[in-house]
Amino acid sequence: MVGSGRHQRRAIVRARELGLRVVGVDRNADAPGLAVADVGEVVDFTDVEAVTEVGRRHDVDGVLTVSADRAVPVVAAVAEALGLPGIGASTAHAMTHKVAMRRRLADHGVAQPRFAALRSIAERRAALDAVGVPAVLKPADSGGQRGVFQIASLDDLDAHLHAALTESATGEAIVESFHEGLELNGLAVARDGEVELLTLSDRLRPAGIGFGVGWTHLYPSTLFGDALSRAEETTVAAIHALGLRNGIAFPQVIVSPDGGCRVVEVAARIPGGQMADLARHAVGVDLVEIALRLALGLEVPDELVRPQFTQPLAIKFLTASPGPLPTGRIVSVGSLEKVLAFPGVVQAELYLQPGETIRPVRLDGDRRGYVIAVADTNVEALERAEAAARLVDVIVE
Ligand SMILES: Nc1ncnc2c1ncn2[C@@H]1O[C@H](COP(=O)(O)OP(=O)(O)O)[C@@H](O)[C@H]1O
Ligand SMILES: [Mg+2]
Repeated sequence: MVGSGRHQRRAIVRARELGLRVVGVDRNADAPGLAVADVGEVVDFTDVEAVTEVGRRHDVDGVLTVSADRAVPVVAAVAEALGLPGIGASTAHAMTHKVAMRRRLADHGVAQPRFAALRSIAERRAALDAVGVPAVLKPADSGGQRGVFQIASLDDLDAHLHAALTESATGEAIVESFHEGLELNGLAVARDGEVELLTLSDRLRPAGIGFGVGWTHLYPSTLFGDALSRAEETTVAAIHALGLRNGIAFPQVIVSPDGGCRVVEVAARIPGGQMADLARHAVGVDLVEIALRLALGLEVPDELVRPQFTQPLAIKFLTASPGPLPTGRIVSVGSLEKVLAFPGVVQAELYLQPGETIRPVRLDGDRRGYVIAVADTNVEALERAEAAARLVDVIVE
């Protein structure tokens, strides 16, 4: 398991339940996953050679990550070096580097925002001329909305380009045309080049600087009819275009008021942010087990992939303004008892410590907990999740 943080911890536990022996790798000796793995190795996973050496020493049968986009190319490279199943370095690059991704999608005629790549301030005018405003600026290879900005003018680009470039390991950024609309997030499984789309859910986002943060997921999507079919086709086409033959995909698309459906990005991993929980509660599919079987080159039977049921649900993330949490330094955090007892609530967590400061939501990482609620309809599930979220007791000074 490449990376052994909070997200990987649960996957490591699941792998052990399935009878596997797990070697966890993380540069942080205190990473929670290392403690639950059979073997924990303190290694910085950006060092492909070192991770490969760990894999060879333990004679591993498979290598994978969960939720960590930066680990995706590392996993692919280690798999290639050790002759293990993997998605391949080229697909891993196309699915983690936004410029490479856009070029590949363009080659295949998949609908997406206009885009331009840039490495320096000298290229900013040409880039913005090509794309127009409003635009979005992002690091070419980062994630979790780090270094993502809305751009209304050349001045905005001047102001934020440095921050975006700094977030990129390769010092590259991308500007894209900004598209309004409803964002849909998908969960898909590719097996031998066949893509199965398990869920498509609404990703609702706050206005303002946190415009990219998924602060609510709603399943099933509120989109229907032809628009929904078009979105499904676009996500599947994007996964094929990027060359993912065996793996889990996390496509993100925006359906605009003009009816256009454009690909934001497609990640080649189980997403963070409770999307694996969404698959479990909404359709009864265990993405972690699928990912483990793919990594080991085992057959993934239809029973594991096909939705078992369709359960409407909502995931409400706990964020500060404009969410339910207050901003400021935390004095105390109450228990989740009332939240968990609320009708329809199936899961909730809070990651907050007294003494830390809650800020207005800007990044994925500003989501400090979540509530998952189910109901007979998606709208009712959302009402329940929102009402339950308001029962969280956090006192700030
Ligand atoms: N071109 C765009 N138009 C409108 N919104 C966008 C655009 N690109 C990104 N966003 C918003 O920002 C979020 C993060 O962008 P994304 O490219 O997925 O970066 P990250 O790798 O940080 O997740 C998207 O999920 C979407 O909500
Ligand atoms: Mg994204």
